[in-house]
Amino acid sequence: MSKPLVLVAGGSSAAGIAVARALLGAGMRVLTVGSDAGRIGAAAQAAGGAVPLVCDLSDPGSVAALAARIHADFGAVDGLIHLVGGWRGGATLTDQGDADWDFLNTSVLTTLRNTSRAFYDDLADSPVGRLAIVSSTSVTAPTAGNANYATVKAAAETWVRSVAHGFKTGAAAPADSSAAVVLVVKALLDDGMRQRSPERTFPGFTDVGVLAEAVVGLFSADAHAINGTRVILD
Ligand SMILES: NC(=O)c1ccc[n+]([C@@H]2O[C@H](COP(=O)([O-])OP(=O)(O)OC[C@H]3O[C@@H](n4cnc5c(N)ncnc54)[C@H](OP(=O)(O)O)[C@@H]3O)[C@@H](O)[C@H]2O)c1
Repeated sequence: MSKPLVLVAGGSSAAGIAVARALLGAGMRVLTVGSDAGRIGAAAQAAGGAVPLVCDLSDPGSVAALAARIHADFGAVDGLIHLVGGWRGGATLTDQGDADWDFLNTSVLTTLRNTSRAFYDDLADSPVGRLAIVSSTSVTAPTAGNANYATVKAAAETWVRSVAHGFKTGAAAPADSSAAVVLVVKALLDDGMRQRSPERTFPGFTDVGVLAEAVVGLFSADAHAINGTRVILD
């Protein structure tokens, strides 16, 4: 088999750079996608050799065009690591506005639905098909102030478990070779955050390097054992 081809969806952030760098280090081919050419180009370079691609992942037509381009230029995708996130919240339940809901729904869920549908057959047919999202501990411990966010993230987790069910039972599924997984953090931490706030200790935060290693590990883990699982990262 040729080197697995992994698409990082929403790769412009520190997490995206760390994940792309780790995947490249593990010998995979990495495509990293963002909505802004300058930011994703810089991220791809910082990762050390990912291919930057520009797409508004919230737009189904644009994602379909992206998939067609990837299939023509690189072939089928083996991994989809979905990192598009964002946060909106407030102090109380009544602060949970509709504009914030719409933002989160589009950023977190629409981009996940668009990308996972566009690349579902690739992932289901791959000998190492992997889909992963990064969810939040707030899904199981929601607060009044983050109701919108926790609810949208819960929906994203349910979507991923639906993909996992498809991998297990779909007509296209080869025997247990593909897996869809939810990775969970309280918050992410990177060197820039440490440098900006040297006095902070960031209790409970997960370094983006830890996330990146967890993502790499998915590709050598037993698909049957990890499909549909929710893994809390330290
Ligand atoms: N950060 C945390 O503390 C934390 C906590 C719990 C869970 N998570 C989850 O961990 C994952 C990574 O977190 P993060 O903070 O690195 O995410 P993020 O910065 O919110 O999103 C990652 C990248 O996605 C890109 N993006 C946004 N909208 C896009 C669109 N429509 N099309 C294409 N790209 C788009 C953005 O880059 P451009 O604007 O350049 O396109 C952004 O840099 C997310 O799923 C997040 O929900 C994070």
